[in-house]
Amino acid sequence: MGRQILVTGGTGYIGSHTVVELQAVGFDVVIIDDLSNSSAEVVDNIEKISGIRPAFEEFNLLDSVKLEAFFVKYSKIDAIIHFAAFKAVGESVEKPLAYYRNNLVSLMNILDSMSKYKIQNLVFSSSCTVYGQPDQLPVTENTPKKDAESPYGNTKAIAEEVLRDVVKVTPDIKVIALRYFNPIGAHPSALIGELPNGVPNNLVPFITQTAAGLRKQLSVFGDDYNTPDGSCIRDYINVVDLAKAHVVAINRLLENSNTERYEFFNVGTGTGVSVLEVLNTFEKATGVKVNYQIVARRSGDIEKIYADTTIANTVLGWKAETSLSDTLLSAWNWEKKIRKIK
Ligand code: UD1
Repeated sequence: MGRQILVTGGTGYIGSHTVVELQAVGFDVVIIDDLSNSSAEVVDNIEKISGIRPAFEEFNLLDSVKLEAFFVKYSKIDAIIHFAAFKAVGESVEKPLAYYRNNLVSLMNILDSMSKYKIQNLVFSSSCTVYGQPDQLPVTENTPKKDAESPYGNTKAIAEEVLRDVVKVTPDIKVIALRYFNPIGAHPSALIGELPNGVPNNLVPFITQTAAGLRKQLSVFGDDYNTPDGSCIRDYINVVDLAKAHVVAINRLLENSNTERYEFFNVGTGTGVSVLEVLNTFEKATGVKVNYQIVARRSGDIEKIYADTTIANTVLGWKAETSLSDTLLSAWNWEKKIRKIK
């Protein structure tokens, strides 16, 4: 049996894709998820893809009694990838305390358990949100962080500081934080993908749901930004490529090839793409027209951000591979599958 990796939030969007990639290279995966934003069916679909059923335990990480019992039951875990968190930016503004508690206390509980059960290695889901609207583009890992735009974003910024400070005084713990840019797309099998609750906040699920006829019209938030076509620019990273970055990070920790005990990397493509470019690429890739209108800017949106991936490419040895077109096609195939569209 391969080395055992605990994936918290393993039935979620990025978590599920990462479980599949870990299994593909021989890791034995155990998932903890409270199913607050996913379903147990994801475990079945992971098994359909990989042929291996990951162990699955359903509870929330704030429940330290259950977490204790978990580590007693699974005593051979070599590393943890901690995805489990709330992630809706707008909701975090309405419910800041719920976001701070869920996202930060769960991390603290994980860190306590790592010390207690002698687990050395952690990969943490961070976000390019920690950069705010940077003064210079592309952003490198050393671009100064700005104040977060939302409580959600702040949980990621604070979590990174918690990790840095804990690692300083805990010689047995090593951490890699991955700062994701905008993850999109789905597994090529169309068995797992992004499944937002209710009306999607994010661009690509809104596009695919509009294309599928679930939404009447996509609103493009602003065409008066200081960008070539006036719409905002982001760095859209394929979710399978992103999942593979976690496998590389885990190997780096397990092989002890990390140079510092706390490291952080940008995980993006390095290319900035506008909202209208995403829309056009989607239409070309799928042959499906998307009804849209330009509306006012969305408050809290930053104008443009994309990654400098030099450090991830050279130090981590990871690079995004999938084209935007193929990625958008995978998102559409997933949407068609779940909506039963031929
Ligand atoms: C948001 C969060 C980010 C979080 C990420 C993942 C903000 C400022 N950032 O990123 O912290 O990690 O989600 O959930 O909220 N757009 C439209 N119409 C739509 C939806 C989006 O035009 O219906 C535009 C947005 O204005 C933006 C781009 O599409 O320019 C991407 O938006 P979205 O997918 O929501 O991601 P971010 O806002 O970049």
